[in-house]
Amino acid sequence: MRAIVTEKFGGPDVLVEREVPDPSPGPDEIAIAVEAAGVNFGEIMMRKGHHPLALQNTILGNDAAGVVSAVGPEVEGFSIGDRVAASLLGRDGSIRGGGYAATAIADPSRTVRLPDGVDAAEALGLIIPGVTAWFLLHQIPEIQGRTVLIHAAAGGTGSQAVQLAHILGAARVFGTASNKDKRALVRELGAESIDYGQNDWPTRVRELTGGRGVDAVFDSVAGETAAGSVAALAMGGKVVLYGSNSGSPPVFTPETWRAIGIGLLSIQGFTNLYNLKRPELIREVMLKLMDFYVAGRLRVELSRFALADAAGAHRALQARQTRGKIVLVP
Ligand SMILES: NC(=O)c1ccc[n+]([C@@H]2O[C@H](COP(=O)([O-])OP(=O)(O)OC[C@H]3O[C@@H](n4cnc5c(N)ncnc54)[C@H](OP(=O)(O)O)[C@@H]3O)[C@@H](O)[C@H]2O)c1
Repeated sequence: MRAIVTEKFGGPDVLVEREVPDPSPGPDEIAIAVEAAGVNFGEIMMRKGHHPLALQNTILGNDAAGVVSAVGPEVEGFSIGDRVAASLLGRDGSIRGGGYAATAIADPSRTVRLPDGVDAAEALGLIIPGVTAWFLLHQIPEIQGRTVLIHAAAGGTGSQAVQLAHILGAARVFGTASNKDKRALVRELGAESIDYGQNDWPTRVRELTGGRGVDAVFDSVAGETAAGSVAALAMGGKVVLYGSNSGSPPVFTPETWRAIGIGLLSIQGFTNLYNLKRPELIREVMLKLMDFYVAGRLRVELSRFALADAAGAHRALQARQTRGKIVLVP
């Protein structure tokens, strides 16, 4: 089969197309003839060799959707010909990869059947970004009625977080994005858009909230945004850091530490890695999000690339040129 193989760590050019043997499913696994493979920001770190979990495969890719092409003898509930979407993690939460290929191997406990008419590529907007956004938003236990701000809101995870924040009852949702086109998408998704390329964006958030600020900021950009995220908080507010797209957060000021110390604000890290060993929980959320999608309550924006141009997809993601979920199409 055709696959994108990462033979060494490095820049996007290490992603090269090769002919490799077809993978076969183990007794409790299924094979998927891939119609769309997801690209996630974490795969940039894996490609560079910087991810906290080691990749066990020379083929990157943590999510894929398509048609079941083979079924191991112990598998129940899936048959050849089923249309499915899957997170490609191992049952134990290990990062197995394998998505950037014509055929991928998946664990049935991390696989959902696609309802009739659901596009394989669009389903991938729910599998990793949607599930991550769901658990991320639950770091604020009482989000109902709150005012929240989501950074990189036109991205894969951000675009799901904006919509899910509304579904979970947030009163007001702000979303930041770097250009006009992305900010228009953020507004279409139901958020008030903020240009975080402007240094005074936290002041703008305060103006728009009558001086109060927001109850929570969900920040995956970190280096360029974390100080502003703190400055945009209302009293008692929380910044949830869950990525570092623009580098590590700055050292916080003594005033910020004092505010944390006396409980005026808090800063929390979040990773969905803790949920990775609980496939039944993740699958339950995948199914819930699929229901929202079928009911028209969630939409998925896509940036599509040919599988052979995986390097181009990584370049575009790093250059902030993508919107929504990025998919590779074999
Ligand atoms: N903690 C977890 O468990 C977990 C799980 C999944 C994903 N994540 C994190 O969630 C974040 C989003 O992932 P994603 O796959 O959905 O990607 P994404 O949001 O679709 O793409 C990244 C976006 O970040 C913004 N950005 C800001 N500064 C950037 C920079 N210096 N370089 C590149 N992009 C920059 C860009 O939007 P603008 O052009 O609008 O600035 C870009 O489009 C990542 O940080 C990822 O690591 C965390």
